[in-house]
Amino acid sequence: MADQTELIGRSDVDDVEAILAVVNTDVDELVHSVKDNADAIFTWDYEKGARAGLNKLYEKAKTSQWNGSTDLPWETEVDLEAVVAQNFLQNDSNGLGFDVIGTPFEKWTEKQWMELGIESNNWTLSQFMHGEQGALICTAKIVETVPWIDAKYYAATQVMDEARHVEVFARYLDEKLTGHYPINAHLKMLLDDIVNDSRWDMTYLGMQIMVEGLALAAFGFIHMMTTEPLLKQLLRYVMSDEARHVAFGVLSLQEYYQGLTDAEMKERQEFAFEASVRMRDRFLQQEVWERMGVDVKTAVELVMSTPTRQMFQMMLFSKIVPNCKKLGLLDRNDKWLRHRFEELGVIQFEDWVDTGEEYEQFALEELAAQQNAATA
Ligand SMILES: [Fe+2]
Ligand SMILES: [Fe+2]
Repeated sequence: MADQTELIGRSDVDDVEAILAVVNTDVDELVHSVKDNADAIFTWDYEKGARAGLNKLYEKAKTSQWNGSTDLPWETEVDLEAVVAQNFLQNDSNGLGFDVIGTPFEKWTEKQWMELGIESNNWTLSQFMHGEQGALICTAKIVETVPWIDAKYYAATQVMDEARHVEVFARYLDEKLTGHYPINAHLKMLLDDIVNDSRWDMTYLGMQIMVEGLALAAFGFIHMMTTEPLLKQLLRYVMSDEARHVAFGVLSLQEYYQGLTDAEMKERQEFAFEASVRMRDRFLQQEVWERMGVDVKTAVELVMSTPTRQMFQMMLFSKIVPNCKKLGLLDRNDKWLRHRFEELGVIQFEDWVDTGEEYEQFALEELAAQQNAATA
C-alpha cells in the first residue's frame, strides 16, 4: 500500500511550497511523448447492444455531433477589457474576493487588475485546451484497449468530440484572446500518469471520471459566470458532449469494478485520490502570478484562503464525488477514499446527482427547447 507521500509527493496536501515546487521545465518543447504501455485488443464478439447503456449512449452521440466551424457565432466581437470589467462587475470587485489591505495587491492600479483578468482568461482557456488534447489521446487509447465492442464504438464518437473541443478552444484562444500558456505542470503530470498506465480501466478512471468530471463542473461554473456570449455558447456546446463522456465512464466502470478484489480497488482509490490532488493544485494558476510579477507563494496563500476560491475549489468536485460513490470507490477498504475526500473538504457532494444519466439534461435539444421557451 502506498502512503500519501509516495502518491502525491508530499505528506500535507496543503503544503504550498511543495505544490509550487512542481513546475513545467519543458515550456519550449513542441512535441511531448509518453509511453502508453498498453496492448491493442481486438474483439471477435461483434454483438451490438450487448451492453444496452453503452449502445444507447453511442446512438445518442451519433445524432449529437455539431460543427465547431459553423455552429458557433465566431463573428462575435470580443472586447477583452470590456468583458473583464463586466465580469468583475457581475461577480465580485477584483475577481479575487479578498480584502487587499496589507497585501502586495494594496497598491495595484486599475491597469494591473485588468491585466490580471486578461491573463487569467488566457491561462484558463489554455489549460482547457491542453486538457482536451489529453482527452483526445486517452479516448483514442480506449478505442484500442477496451475489450467490448459497444465501448469501442462509443469511444470512437468521443474521439471526434474531443477533436472538436481542442479545435474550438484553440480557435477561441487565437482569435479572441491575447496569448497562450504552456501546459500547467500538475495537469501534465496527471495526463502523463493516465496515458502511461497499462490497465484499460485506468484510462477511464483518470480521464472520464476525474478529469472530465472536473471539467464538466468547471465549464458549468464559468458558463454561469462569464458575460461573454461566444464563450458562453461554446462552453454550453462542449458541456453537452462532456456529460455523455462522464456517463460513458460511469457505465463502463460500474460493470468492471463489480469483479475487482479489495486490493485492486485500493489501487483505483489511490489513483482517484492522486488525480484529485493534482487537479486541485493545477487550479492555483501559479503561472499567472509569475507573469504578473508578484510573489507566487504569497498570492497563492491569499487566494487559497478566500471564501470564493474555497467554494470554487469545492464545486470542482461536485461531479467527481457522487460518481466515485456510484462506482463503489468511496467505501471499499475501510472507507479509504471517503476519508481522503473528507480531508480535501469535498465529501458533502456524495449524494449529489451522479452523471450516469444526467447527460440527457445537457443535450443540445434541451438547450434549443429552453431558448424557444424564452423567446416565445
Ligand atoms: Fe472534451
Ligand atoms: Fe470529454
